Amino acid sequence: MKQHLYIMLLILLLSACSGNNGKKYVIGVSQCSEDIWRDKLNNELVMSTYQYDNVTLKFASANDNDKLQKQQIEQFIKEGISLLIVSPNQIHTISSVIDKAYDAGIPVILFDRKTDSGKYTAFMGADNYEAGHEMGQFIAQQLGGKGNVVEIGGLKGSSPSIERDRGFTDAMKAYPGIRIVDRRYADWLKNRGEAVMDSMLRQCMEIDYVFAQNDRMAVGALQAAEKHGVKDLKFVGIDALPVPGGGMESVRDGRLMASYIYPTRGDLVMQLALNILEKKPYKRDNYLKGTLVTSNNANALLLQNEEIMKQTARLQSLHGKVDNYLAQYNHQKVYLVLFSIIVLLLVGIMIYVYRSIVARHRIEEETVAAKLQFFTNISHELRTPLTLIADPVDYIIHDSNLNAQQRDMLQIVQRNVAVLTRLVSEILDFRKVQNGKMKLHLSDFDLAESMRQWFSLFATSAQKKNISLQLEVPEALSMRADHDKLERICYNLLTNAMKYTPNGGRITFAASVEGDKVRITVSDNGIGIAHDEQPYIFNRFYQAKNAEHGTGIGLALVKAFTELHHGLATVESREGEGSRFIITMPLRQAGELSSSRSEQAFSPVVETVADEDVPNQARHIDDLVLPDETARPEVLVIDDNSDIRAYLRTALSSIYKVSEAIDGKSGLEMARRIVPDLIISDIMMPVMDGLEFCSQLKQDKAISHIPVILLTARSLDDQRVEGYEHGADAYISKPFSLRLLLSRIDNLIQSRKKLSQLFSNSDENDVFEKLSNETDKTFITQLRKIIQDNLGDSEFNVERFGDEIGLSRVQLYRKVKALTGHSPVEMLRKARLMRARHLLQTTDKSVSEVAYAVGFSTPSYFSKCYKEEFDLQPAQER
Ligand code: FRU
Repeated sequence: MKQHLYIMLLILLLSACSGNNGKKYVIGVSQCSEDIWRDKLNNELVMSTYQYDNVTLKFASANDNDKLQKQQIEQFIKEGISLLIVSPNQIHTISSVIDKAYDAGIPVILFDRKTDSGKYTAFMGADNYEAGHEMGQFIAQQLGGKGNVVEIGGLKGSSPSIERDRGFTDAMKAYPGIRIVDRRYADWLKNRGEAVMDSMLRQCMEIDYVFAQNDRMAVGALQAAEKHGVKDLKFVGIDALPVPGGGMESVRDGRLMASYIYPTRGDLVMQLALNILEKKPYKRDNYLKGTLVTSNNANALLLQNEEIMKQTARLQSLHGKVDNYLAQYNHQKVYLVLFSIIVLLLVGIMIYVYRSIVARHRIEEETVAAKLQFFTNISHELRTPLTLIADPVDYIIHDSNLNAQQRDMLQIVQRNVAVLTRLVSEILDFRKVQNGKMKLHLSDFDLAESMRQWFSLFATSAQKKNISLQLEVPEALSMRADHDKLERICYNLLTNAMKYTPNGGRITFAASVEGDKVRITVSDNGIGIAHDEQPYIFNRFYQAKNAEHGTGIGLALVKAFTELHHGLATVESREGEGSRFIITMPLRQAGELSSSRSEQAFSPVVETVADEDVPNQARHIDDLVLPDETARPEVLVIDDNSDIRAYLRTALSSIYKVSEAIDGKSGLEMARRIVPDLIISDIMMPVMDGLEFCSQLKQDKAISHIPVILLTARSLDDQRVEGYEHGADAYISKPFSLRLLLSRIDNLIQSRKKLSQLFSNSDENDVFEKLSNETDKTFITQLRKIIQDNLGDSEFNVERFGDEIGLSRVQLYRKVKALTGHSPVEMLRKARLMRARHLLQTTDKSVSEVAYAVGFSTPSYFSKCYKEEFDLQPAQER
């Protein structure tokens, strides 16, 4: 993540920094002087760079100073310029430094002026000889071949000065009537031109025409003549600059007789430079065309130039604007980059914060889960001791010998055990909800009636606290939901209300129908809940600041159970004024009516142990049965009277595992399912009575072996006979003595045990005879046959055993174990080893052959089992 961020930032920065700032070529321009001619040239050079974005120009002006120009060129070399454009002040004085640049690999363009060295890359400029020659001819013509002329030269050692003079002199040679009376140098400067003219006039020279090698000197000379009052003297110059104050205006105005366009053409110079730099073809010596300017064409040329100047100005302004925009654009780019960086950083920070929140949340979740797991484990641990406290207390509390004080104390114990038991089951229930194991057991019931019942449970405690209870329910309210869970929801809310409502307060329990929904409310005028705590009170383990005590799980369970019903649990509360808990849920839950729920509602068959948190494999009854399951025999109590069932449960549960059913039919189903060790059944019951139950049981192969004690108010002898005829193993009349019942139960279980021990230790036929029940005899015969038939089949296992005999695994196990004291696998193994012994003693087969013949898959395992069974190695049988 961080790496990506850095890469993106880098790309943004690079893209922002790239663009026109990184020009490739730096061209140094070394000018010998500073004047309007060179200004024009410099301007043209700059303008030309507009079409090349990879060129930067650097200007230096030596102000007619050789030394300075050399220094400036040295500096250019140091800076590593790409190309040098130079107008050398003089032909010889600065050649050395130009050679140096050239030798350093810097291309050199000589412009306008030359050196005496051949070390240059290209030259561009006008033909100065031509210029001098043209002006000579013009003067000669103007004078008609006769007259006196003076020449004012530029800088003595500069190439234009030398060449112009040569051209002029050569032109004059054709006119013998013209005399060059003087020749002076004025270093290209106006004031120097004026000075030399002044000096010549002072000498009273006769002069008709003055040829100055540039316009500036010509105008200076003209001004000197004017000062001297000399009127008929004529002047010409060179340059003919078409700019204000330039030579072209002077010609137009008649102050100069003529001039010669000495072109600047910075555009062509730049083109040449680029050709050299980009290794394109170019000419080494490039001469620019000049033109004579007289009063005839000066005006036209000026107008023409004016237009060009306007265009140039417009172009420059446009370029200025573009530059401006570019600068703005670059600024914006920088802002954009900064903005992007800030956005990226913000995004990064947000991601970081989000991740930390998620991580913290996960840690909290894990902590809560660990807490819940811890409570679950403790709850499991607590359940057995609680049962062991509750059952004996329930048992003793009915003892008529107890005095009032003892009973009171026991009732305290009973109440507190009930509180603990409820707490434990709430934690376990909550765990179930969390694991998604909590299911709805739907039944149809009258909610109004149920609410009346639930509410009545609080009447006594409300009375004690002087709390007024109000119930607001319709006459009847038909509902399809999980009755027990709804009861728990209401019970928890009412308990809560009781807890937080002060003496003399009021609690209202109401239900109303709104469309297809029911709304159940529990309102109180108790202490209320702070506004900021309200969103959390349904969270597990949450305890409000003013909570008295508790685990914080009750309301969480309310919410979970409500949501299981696709409903909503909310609270409205004001601190100091009271609270209203509101449960809304559909009146009718979609789904099948649960058979187990309907049994619970109308024919309660309740398994004592219904532990959903016990791992699955431990619930499979195979050869490995949990020790406590085998250790505690299981008794099924069938009676339609719930008090009798409760009483028997209380009396038996300390010794036996107790299950209950409310009539013969549900009892039979239950017996088939759990295969108990003994059944106590009432005779007079709805749906299916005890006699019918007994005879069906005794005909059912899976459960026929289970001893049945019939319990009835009937005590007539012939009825007893009827009972025994239906297969009952014992008969006890009501009212019965608990001790008698306990000893009868014990007897039957013990004699069943003895029978099975007999089965495993003695001749099977003896035991067979002792079986009273025909179904059991048939079963044993069948069992033996199946074992014998499959002795040699190593693939034959418990599943197939069950399939063949027509019993489930549990039934087969329980049945075989009860009858024989052995598990089916042990029986099978025993029979295989018996056959093996017979084979070893009566045949020549090897140990391995015998092992395979009796269905062992490896001889070593066979030998091990053999040793365990007979305390002999198979080989020792020989
Ligand atoms: C400008 C200038 C021009 C002249 C040229 C000769 O600096 O003096 O007037 O024509 O130089 O190099």
